[in-house]
Amino acid sequence: MEESRFLRVCLGQPSDSTPVWFMRQAGRYLEEYRRLRERYGMLELCRTPELAAEVTLQPIRRFDLDAAIIFADILLPLDAMGVRFDFARGEGPVIEKPVRTPRDVRDLLVEGAESRLDYVYRAIDIVRSKLPSRTALIGFAGAPFTVASYMIEGGHSRHFAATKLMMYEQPDTWDLLMRKISQVTTRYLLKQIEAGAQVVQLFDSWVGCLSRQDYLDFVFPYSRSILSEIRKTAIPVIHFGTGTSTFLDVMHQAGGSVLGVDWRIELQDVWKWLGRGVVLQGNLDPVALLAPKDMLRERVNRILDQAQGHAHIFNLGHGILPQTPLDNVEVVVELIRKRALER
Ligand code: CP3
Repeated sequence: MEESRFLRVCLGQPSDSTPVWFMRQAGRYLEEYRRLRERYGMLELCRTPELAAEVTLQPIRRFDLDAAIIFADILLPLDAMGVRFDFARGEGPVIEKPVRTPRDVRDLLVEGAESRLDYVYRAIDIVRSKLPSRTALIGFAGAPFTVASYMIEGGHSRHFAATKLMMYEQPDTWDLLMRKISQVTTRYLLKQIEAGAQVVQLFDSWVGCLSRQDYLDFVFPYSRSILSEIRKTAIPVIHFGTGTSTFLDVMHQAGGSVLGVDWRIELQDVWKWLGRGVVLQGNLDPVALLAPKDMLRERVNRILDQAQGHAHIFNLGHGILPQTPLDNVEVVVELIRKRALER
């Protein structure tokens, strides 16, 4: 019998309570994180296994969460592939020389890239040795579309124009880029699993900027190739995106044991659409965590009502915001535990 309720639900088995964790649960809304950040840069935290392990455990000490997610970033593989970047204060990631031409894509390093991310595997090993067995450890990577979009745009983007134009104007270059990222991502996730990750999440945070047809033509084959390789390990995979309500069916077909859903669609509608047996993760609006407590409780209750009798992992529809009050996080976790006792 699996000890972790999070793993049980990922595998479609019953559990005593809805498992709960929060995307980006380690981060700036925690004062102990902000204190560490006064002394260390974001990349320094990621690249020092003892520090990354400490940050991973911070939210676990505060809240009764069912899973920890290893402290890292979806952009770390860029560096391992020869693309340099940094996190500029208040601006998010900045890529030194964006990847735009066939030459840029040919120059990307694939062989041995996963070995240059060794610090992540060491952090996973440390965290697993410190976590109680009921708390699952999640590894992760960015999905090829979202990672490619950062490489091409050079940072965050509103319209993803350069990314879409590479698809439309240079389909062979796009194909090579996506194959290279997919290969590195597959090996990176397998190494995380080897190091002790019990579940992995593939973050396709920005794929919702695409039409359904562009998703099918330019993204689906690559995400599917990663997900089918990981499937061979029998480790559950959470396939996550935002803004994907119009093509959740094809994302689900691409693979993954759990489908991540954001707040733009009701969970009950997704179960009606994709089948009642599908395991869903989500889908509270991160902004609801800033709302008055009564409204917050009402929204959590609504999600739990819809999820009754289904396999469901409670989470936000996207990452927790830095201005989130800690007592509101506590309200959500307590409510989930209270509802479990009543059922
Ligand atoms: O607790 C956790 O969830 C684990 C750590 C984690 C981070 N990034 C740490 C981080 C995870 C899972 C990520 C994933 C990530 N990174 C995504 C996918 C999830 C999502 O939110 O869509 C994306 C798109 C990124 C890229 C990224 N990293 C951006 C755009 C930024 C800057 C904006 C921001 O949110 O701060 C980062 C920086 C980053 N990654 C921080 C953290 C804690 C903030 C760094 C700081 O302390 O200043």
